[in-house]
Amino acid sequence: MMDAVRQDAREAVADLSFSQALAEGLSLTPKEIPCKFFYDAAGSALFDAICALPEYYQTRTEVALLRRNAGEIASLIGADAEIVEFGAGALRKVRILLDALSRPRGYTPIDISGSYLRDVTRRLAVDYPNLALCPVVGDFTMPLHIPKMNGAVRRAGFFPGSTIGNFRPDTAMTLLRRMREMLDGGGLLVGVDLVKDPAILHAAYNDAAGVTAAFNKNLLARANRELNAGFDLEDFAHYAPYNPKAQRIEMYLVSLKRQSVRLGGRIVEFQAGEAVHTEDSHKYTIESFREIAARAGFIPRAVWADENRQFSLHWLESR
Ligand code: TRP
Repeated sequence: MMDAVRQDAREAVADLSFSQALAEGLSLTPKEIPCKFFYDAAGSALFDAICALPEYYQTRTEVALLRRNAGEIASLIGADAEIVEFGAGALRKVRILLDALSRPRGYTPIDISGSYLRDVTRRLAVDYPNLALCPVVGDFTMPLHIPKMNGAVRRAGFFPGSTIGNFRPDTAMTLLRRMREMLDGGGLLVGVDLVKDPAILHAAYNDAAGVTAAFNKNLLARANRELNAGFDLEDFAHYAPYNPKAQRIEMYLVSLKRQSVRLGGRIVEFQAGEAVHTEDSHKYTIESFREIAARAGFIPRAVWADENRQFSLHWLESR
């Protein structure tokens, strides 16, 4: 019961603007900030730096999987397809797909960070002059209208980066179901980080150079920039333990002292040691992920993983 109530609060908070979400999330017990607010232009650039970290094995493992299996993936997707990417980021991975596909007709990157998306789309356009591009600035967890591309015979979704892991399993299932509807009968290629040695996971979210800490604290820096908030970044710590029972990394900002912080017209109180929950990153087994995909109405058709079983790519078809 408690959990259902909490989940409702979390989802309601997720639909608000940054200022509303921050005010509401910081008035909950325990405090939270929805993770989609990580990705302003500064946050997107920091996340890009995370992807290049030695400890963050996910990106290079997924890129290698895409490269190694591009031919097979392209033939499963089929010719004359239109690619819709959910949470497109730097638009780097999709190039591997576009280069392998036969006559790709169009590409619709969806991303919440408008200025970042415009920038990277402009660069992609230079390299793919014949591809119809239709960037959509928005939150892919909301119902979005995706315009149909001329000449495309099928739509394929692309959802890399294990972003699916940033949702709770029940919400992830609902999201996959909604994506299936947005894809109009087309399939979905999704990247999923796998359950593994907690020490490897811990290192990936607690890098030595402190980039992940800066990324987490960017929420507070963003509040200072956009909302005239009074967070002192030195007074908060990045804390990202692995919860083996729930099979997820949990990320927090921990107040290092008892403090009162200005936020817009009000004051938010923090106890010494009080944690603000900012993100979860759930890990799956190949089987447990295929199960939620099936519950979402997909048929899991193919799966690829590296030899160390660190990361997986799934091709799901619509039923
Ligand atoms: N989808 C990514 C993941 O869960 C997002 C991510 C990676 C992330 N590192 C992060 C989010 C650090 C916040 C902080 O792995």
